[in-house]
Amino acid sequence: MIDLHCHILPALDDGPETEAESLQMARVFVRAGYRIVAATPHMVPGTAWMPTIDRINAKVAGLHQTVKDQGLRLEIVSGMEIALDPQIPDLLDEGRLLPLGNTSCLLIEAAFQQLPPGWEQVIFAIQAKGYSILMAHPERCAQLGTHPHLIAQLIQSGIYLQVNWGSFLGQYGRAVARTARLMATNGWIHCLATDSHHPDGHTPERIQAATAKLRKMIGQENIQQLTVDNPSRVLSGKPLQPMRPSAAMSGRRKKRWWRF
Ligand SMILES: [Fe+2]
Repeated sequence: MIDLHCHILPALDDGPETEAESLQMARVFVRAGYRIVAATPHMVPGTAWMPTIDRINAKVAGLHQTVKDQGLRLEIVSGMEIALDPQIPDLLDEGRLLPLGNTSCLLIEAAFQQLPPGWEQVIFAIQAKGYSILMAHPERCAQLGTHPHLIAQLIQSGIYLQVNWGSFLGQYGRAVARTARLMATNGWIHCLATDSHHPDGHTPERIQAATAKLRKMIGQENIQQLTVDNPSRVLSGKPLQPMRPSAAMSGRRKKRWWRF
């Protein structure tokens, strides 16, 4: 599997504090079946969380070497989780934002309460500069949970959507779990990611539990698409595929496909 959203780099944000902890996370990723992870520390314009590209690249190179020295088969590529903010177009012009794995796809974080005023213009300005957008955990944005037509609007705007595994396990509460299920049954997910911050965050057992729940909802073929095929397309600069209707879904669920 490929994880396009995790906080594995040490001492940059609310992720691990030491490289030893980062290494522990790498071991958990390998045990859970991951072969590639994108290190995506927080980038929140106007706050202390504004790591430079050089700092991130240096930490990625350091951790990559440590992981290799330990004989672990895990590739780490660079990235940022960029808070959706009107400053993004200027920061792009200044060369201060890092896309996922040296592609032109930016991981953009939806706010937890509501999208900022004028978000449509910000999105448009980013896309006009030639970037694609993978939106991190839209299911955690309260406004999107109560106004699902906005999720459809995001997709119509050409935005790809990344949902956290933990959302299906109730890690962020019932409302988020409900939105994640709604997105799954409407085919509104392009990638699944861990958003892991700590070694005990996404153990193989938790990934397996979430997979079992999801398999009933969307089928194994879609799980493969959201955890391997689409993340791989992101890293090779190709357009992502929408989820497919699945034979594994019940008749009632099939009726709701592409609707809400
Ligand atoms: Fe994150």
